[in-house]
Amino acid sequence: MDSINLELNNLDIKEQFINVKKSEPLSIPTTAKSAASSIEDLNADFRENLYLDRMNYLREEISKINVKEMEINPDDLFDKFCDPENPVSIKFNDISAAAYRIKGGVENTPCTRSHMSDLTGMEIFFKKDFLQYTGSFKERGARFALLSLSKEQRTKGVIAASAGNHAQALCYHGKMLKIPVIVVMPKIAPIMKVSNCRSYGAIVLVEGTNMSEAKNYALKLSKMLNLMYINGYDHPNILAGQGTMALEIIEEIPNVDAIVVPTGGGGLLAGIAVAAKYMNPDIMIIAAESERCAGFYNSMINGKPTFTKAESTLADGLAVPVVGVNSFASAHKLVDKCVCVQEEFIAIAILRLLELEKAVVEGAGACGFAAILQGLLPELKGKRVVIPLCGGNIDTSILGRVLERALVADGRLIKIWVTISDRPGSLAEFCKLISSQGASIKDIAHERAWLKNDIFSVQVQGVLEVENSEKARELEMVLRSKYEKVVMGSYGGH
Ligand SMILES: Cc1ncc(COP(=O)(O)O)c(C=O)c1O
Repeated sequence: MDSINLELNNLDIKEQFINVKKSEPLSIPTTAKSAASSIEDLNADFRENLYLDRMNYLREEISKINVKEMEINPDDLFDKFCDPENPVSIKFNDISAAAYRIKGGVENTPCTRSHMSDLTGMEIFFKKDFLQYTGSFKERGARFALLSLSKEQRTKGVIAASAGNHAQALCYHGKMLKIPVIVVMPKIAPIMKVSNCRSYGAIVLVEGTNMSEAKNYALKLSKMLNLMYINGYDHPNILAGQGTMALEIIEEIPNVDAIVVPTGGGGLLAGIAVAAKYMNPDIMIIAAESERCAGFYNSMINGKPTFTKAESTLADGLAVPVVGVNSFASAHKLVDKCVCVQEEFIAIAILRLLELEKAVVEGAGACGFAAILQGLLPELKGKRVVIPLCGGNIDTSILGRVLERALVADGRLIKIWVTISDRPGSLAEFCKLISSQGASIKDIAHERAWLKNDIFSVQVQGVLEVENSEKARELEMVLRSKYEKVVMGSYGGH
């Protein structure tokens, strides 16, 4: 083992190394000295090598563990930072400290007046946190939690379970800060998010059929490897970090009347509620959830975090069965209203944001705006409303499918069945009528054998694109005036 340059004796890093070394084998990186040209370089190189060495050590240890076969006892699942018996309410000071610490490491994203203001009758401002490097607000809490670790914990590393945005944020900032990170992601995690985490050099385990299983594995591993577990929606430092978004909003937008917050485990809601109400108690705080995982709503009704089955939803980032105990303790007295949004409106919100705002936003991040589109917040008419667009990580293939569904829900993609004569020229006449109404044919098929009536008729089935639901209605009337049998698939229009 090479000896360490005397100049390093005063550096924190040496101290960290020695603390960890007492409990676990770790070789001193010899490259630290040779590559460095100044004390700063030496320190940076030493950190880098220490980090890589530690990652190798953790990889090796994990490779010896059969994760699926681990015996998990109730004690293993206890997280002392999220103790239901002793929930922690975060304070404004925690958030202002977090803002100070993460400055420069996380973007202060734009909060701009929306094109949708006239459409909704509200003055809408979008806080564009999908523009963070990893595509979500989760970087705020992740960076603050990592920066708040003790020297020894920084060297040892941390572990978390997450299906996506928290994992990406932790892996990315772990790499930036040279803190080893292990994430356990459930098998349902979007492939893009898993491969992003890998690209940040973290140890990524894809284990567990759902978030609960992944979390159990991660908690057990945290005990076995003596690593701190960082809950992505309930660790107090995560809540404080997420609250920094409200400080930026209030600094940028004067006289905010309301903030509509997409809510899953409640970390973002808690952070925003504590910060905003401290600065101006008149600001309304509204929690927006998918109706397929309305955990915060149910918890508010029951007065305590309450298990709520999370069904599959477009807002996958919000699918948390039990809201955080600290999140609930911090937020429940500050939240003015909880709304549960239908899937259809989440899809339409994604579509509107893409078309009118030129913003790619994932389902969870679009949930606040979806609540407004669904008409769940009429009391905000004429008010200044801020909506965090807090994540943009949506798989391209899913985006395609969502947009199609949204076009249907919006009444712009319609399906028709019309029985026409099979005389030569009938189909051409039918198509001409469609085009005279400004509709465009996306798909068309002919059906003859299964018709029970007139042998000289055929059924045409078509998928058409129209400008809006009003045009769809007009087309239906024109078709009915010419053909006897017209069936239209239901079309929405919002
Ligand atoms: C894009 C997005 N928005 C909102 C949330 C909800 O955050 P929280 O779990 O802190 O309530 C999440 C959670 O992962 C998310 O990914």
